[in-house]
Amino acid sequence: MSTPLRTIVRFCGVEKSFGETHVLRELDLEVFAGETLALIGPSGSGKSTLLRVLMGLEPIDAGCVEIDGEILWDGPHAARSRRERAQRRELLRRVGMVFQHFHLFPHRTALANLSLAPRKVLDLDAASAETRALELLRRVGLEDKASCYPQELSGGQKQRVAIARALALDPEILLFDEVTSALDPELVGEVLDVLRELAEDGGRTRIVVTHQMDFAYEVADRVVFMDQGRVVEQGLPEEIFRAPRQERTRVFLRSVLQSRSLRGPSAFGATSSVGSAAEFAGSSAGIRIGPVSK
Ligand SMILES: Nc1ncnc2c1ncn2[C@@H]1O[C@H](COP(=O)(O)OP(=O)(O)O)[C@@H](O)[C@H]1O
Ligand SMILES: [Mg+2]
Repeated sequence: MSTPLRTIVRFCGVEKSFGETHVLRELDLEVFAGETLALIGPSGSGKSTLLRVLMGLEPIDAGCVEIDGEILWDGPHAARSRRERAQRRELLRRVGMVFQHFHLFPHRTALANLSLAPRKVLDLDAASAETRALELLRRVGLEDKASCYPQELSGGQKQRVAIARALALDPEILLFDEVTSALDPELVGEVLDVLRELAEDGGRTRIVVTHQMDFAYEVADRVVFMDQGRVVEQGLPEEIFRAPRQERTRVFLRSVLQSRSLRGPSAFGATSSVGSAAEFAGSSAGIRIGPVSK
C-alpha cells in the first residue's frame, strides 16, 4: 500500500432502505487508494447493497458517497443536469464490479463479452478491442475459450471471464461480491488463484466481499466487519481475526468458521498456510486463524 494514505472512496452517514427494510444505517466508511479491503459480515448485513451503491446501481436515501473527492451520491440526488450526468458517468468508469452470478451476456462469446464495453465506452475499433480482450483472457488463463459461449464454460471459467471483463475498462476501483460463493467447491481454487495473481498488478483499489475468511486474511490490507447495515469493527486482518474487540465480530467469525468446518476441509485448498477452520472453531476464547506472522 502506498503512503501517505489517500482516501479514494468515502461513505458518510449513508442511509438506505428497501421499503420497510432498513439496509444501510448511518454507514461511514473510508477506503484508501491501492488497498485491498475485505468486507465481511452476516448475510443480509448490507454488503452487496454497499457495493451496488458504489457502482451507481442503487440510490441512497441520505448521507453521501464520494469517489476520489467527487460526489457520486448526495442524499437521494444523483446528477441532474446533462453536464453532471456526464461527469457522473466519467466517475463511474473508475469503478468495476464482479458479481456472484457472473452476469455474462449469454448470447455472446467470451471474447465478445470482453470486447463489447471497450468498443462502446472507450470507442475502440473491433480489432483493437479483440486484441485487448484476448490479452485479458490470457491473463485469466482462458485464451483458448475465446469463442465459447457462457453455457459452454464451467462456473469457475465463467467467473474468470467475468473478472477479465471487469478488467477490460481498467477500473481503478474493483468490487468483488462473493465471487466464489455460487461455485462448486472444486472450482473455487482456480478463481481465487486468479484473484491472487491480480493482486500483484498493484495500484488498483479492491473491495472484496467474501465468506472465505482465510482468503480475506491472506489478501486484505484491512478488514471491515458489517452487521445490520453498519460498520461494527475494522482493522488489520490480524486484529479482526485474532483479537476482535466487538462481541458481534467474535460471534460472527465463530459461526462462519464452525459451519465451514462442519462442511469439511476448506475450499481454499492445500496451498493455504492458514490454520484450519476446525482449529479455530474449537477455540472458544480468542480468534485463531492464520499463522503468527503474515
Ligand atoms: N432490491 C432489493 N429489494 C428489496 N430488498 C432488498 C433488495 N436488495 C437487498 N434487499 C434486502 O436488503 C438486505 C441487505 O441485503 P444485501 O445488501 O444483499 O446483504 P448482504 O450482501 O450482506 O447479504 C436484505 O434484507 C435484502 O433482502
Ligand atoms: Mg450479498
